[in-house]
Amino acid sequence: MTSYPILNWLEGRHDIYTRPHAVDLQSSVHRNLMANFGDENAAAAFMTSDRSFWRQQVVIRAQHVMRRTYAGTILEIGAGSGWCSSLLSTIPGVEKIYCSDYDPVSVQHLMPQVQKTLGAASHKIQRALGSFNSLPLADEADVVISIGALHHSENLYVTMKECFKALKPGGWLVATEPTLPDSETNHQLQARYKKEDPGSIKKYGRVTLHEENSDHYYRLSEYITAAHCAKFDVFPFVFDVAGNPSADDRVLADRKAAIGFAPNVLFPYFAKTPAKPLFDSLMLIAQKPLDGGCDLGHVLSGQGRSW
Ligand SMILES: C[S@@+](CC[C@H](N)C(=O)[O-])C[C@H]1O[C@@H](n2cnc3c(N)ncnc32)[C@H](O)[C@@H]1O
Repeated sequence: MTSYPILNWLEGRHDIYTRPHAVDLQSSVHRNLMANFGDENAAAAFMTSDRSFWRQQVVIRAQHVMRRTYAGTILEIGAGSGWCSSLLSTIPGVEKIYCSDYDPVSVQHLMPQVQKTLGAASHKIQRALGSFNSLPLADEADVVISIGALHHSENLYVTMKECFKALKPGGWLVATEPTLPDSETNHQLQARYKKEDPGSIKKYGRVTLHEENSDHYYRLSEYITAAHCAKFDVFPFVFDVAGNPSADDRVLADRKAAIGFAPNVLFPYFAKTPAKPLFDSLMLIAQKPLDGGCDLGHVLSGQGRSW
């Protein structure tokens, strides 16, 4: 079976939201990852790590919120190794996957290696070199997936708007991301950005600050606001060890994302090691309404109104 040629979405499409040197840092991470997927044992260790386990579970359990299974066309943004696209490609109902990232090392070298090691249905996977801030798709994807990618956005509203545009009416965005409580002040977040990343030598071969690789500390309200302004219906699920210990899949299916003003915070009940759970604190599910949604004209959306 023939595979798709790589698409270059960066050519002719302008993304002003790429931080200088951020792509180089990601290239370094992705070169290191080539070793992680160098053979089946190393890949198995990566895929069964506590973090990967959590992220796979989010992808599986998002179907409870969506009340449907994965099918049709999927767009993965910030795919990195593309492990998620590789796994999704084996689902019979999935016809095509755009597996995209703005780092050429990942798209050209890492993704094919990972597809091979994980036994992906590569003929369904279309690799694309592109930024999630400038996507050339409109009303095409049934699902957009972000595994730890959205928090790298330099403009969450622009990224959400692009994902919204790429989705068919009724389509879904599924994201698993770190987030911080709304009680964090700007100064507290600023201090985090200015801290040295302790893992930076290993990941990037040099010392970096947290802000340099475009890692963002978005608060829960910021994700939700950006998604609402992009016209999504939003279902945010927050996880914390102090959260509701009787949480289960029914909570996801009921879409009880909040109780009045308070977010419904759940114990990370599907973590691999419950005694010492490793998890992303936000599972963000958002749907493009069937009628295309409406713009409320709130100032936050950046859309002016003409009377
Ligand atoms: C934390 S990594 C997650 C990678 C992958 N999804 C995974 O689960 O292993 C974030 C990824 O987002 C990509 N990324 C960051 N900003 C991007 C942008 N503006 N457009 C496309 N990809 C971006 C990075 O290159 C990196 O691969």
